[in-house]
Amino acid sequence: MEKKILITGGAGFIGSHVVRLFVTKNPNYTIINLDTLTYAGNLENLKDIEHCTNYKFVKANILDAEALSKTFKEYQITDVIHLAAESHVDRSIHSPLDFVYTNIVGTVNLLNTAKQYWGSEQNHLFYHVSTDEVYGSLGETGFFTETTPYDPRSPYSASKASSDHFVRAYHETYNIPTVISNCSNNYGPNHFPEKLIPLFINNIIERKPLPVYGDGKYTRDWLYVKDHAIAIDLIFHKGKKGDTYNIGGFNEWKNIDLVKLLCKLMDKKLGRDEGESEQLITYVKDRPGHDRRYAIDATKLNKELGWQPSVSFEEGLSATIDWYLDNTDWLKNVTSGDYQQYYTSMYLNR
Ligand code: NAD
Ligand code: TYD
Repeated sequence: MEKKILITGGAGFIGSHVVRLFVTKNPNYTIINLDTLTYAGNLENLKDIEHCTNYKFVKANILDAEALSKTFKEYQITDVIHLAAESHVDRSIHSPLDFVYTNIVGTVNLLNTAKQYWGSEQNHLFYHVSTDEVYGSLGETGFFTETTPYDPRSPYSASKASSDHFVRAYHETYNIPTVISNCSNNYGPNHFPEKLIPLFINNIIERKPLPVYGDGKYTRDWLYVKDHAIAIDLIFHKGKKGDTYNIGGFNEWKNIDLVKLLCKLMDKKLGRDEGESEQLITYVKDRPGHDRRYAIDATKLNKELGWQPSVSFEEGLSATIDWYLDNTDWLKNVTSGDYQQYYTSMYLNR
């Protein structure tokens, strides 16, 4: 079937990989990328596919119900993959309302538009892309499964949890065909350099301090972004409507161990002395309400749909560093504002 898929947030980090995969893998689908281009959205991320005839870009905000309605009508949207969001925990601590507006109100706007255009037709899908952070924080052991109770602890995760609840509520109340996936931390090319891995790659290149929050023993489960895009493609086509799928890398790292590995790999690639970049590690005050550990159990996705990560962490991290070293212009362009100074100083000065 020819589908006309609205992908929101397609100019961002994960969205750009999802758009590329869908445009190139499914030439009979039309992909409409709707993005308002915040600091995190960048059309440079999609330069290589912008000429494709099955790709369209609409610059619009998901808070603008009229623009959503116009887009649904003009392109006769059959499906939605919703990624547009404010995505950085530190920003959410500073400006929680931005997260309420985009992540909650924006999602409900989009659900309302889908409800208005699709009515009770079931041959559509509203796919909501979410995070494992909705489940809260783990101790030393255990994993998040699809039935783990929600326990969000940051304004970011609270806003994503709320949007997940609205998607489920629209499925139950209005019979909108939906699916949700909750993924662990992504890394890879085109990641805005305010998150741990791209920020530290940028700082190592520039020999700037590497601000490690608290004791550095916080743990995250890292997944290469292209494996996330593959999982989204699989769930979009084969997932059960109304269901939730966890996506994770089976790849836990304590921040400090990850940062030391990054320093080692980058010293080699940059031809620096071994141990040089580690000197840049600077312990700073902790993030308030910092979740100690995330770890995803992706057994359901593996058993039901046969997905598993295809890229090892060593390969993925090496490819990511190479991408940033080959794309220093991209890095310069996106870091030309004063955001980095500002967010780093939030922790250095407390
Ligand atoms: P990102 O910050 O890199 O990109 C977000 C995109 O959304 C940008 O292109 C931005 O311009 C756009 N956007 C923001 N507000 C908008 C609005 N009001 N209207 C229209 N467009 C808007 O985010 P990301 O890291 O690519 O994350 C994408 C999605 O995946 C988010 O929903 C996030 O919660 C989820 N997620 C992210 C991760 C991760 O590790 N990055 C992990 C799991 C889930
Ligand atoms: P981040 O990339 O912001 O993702 P999230 O908070 O959504 O997991 O942070 C990943 C981990 O790295 C988290 O434990 C916070 C920590 N961190 C630092 O220690 N220093 C930093 O400068 C940043 C951005 C994050």
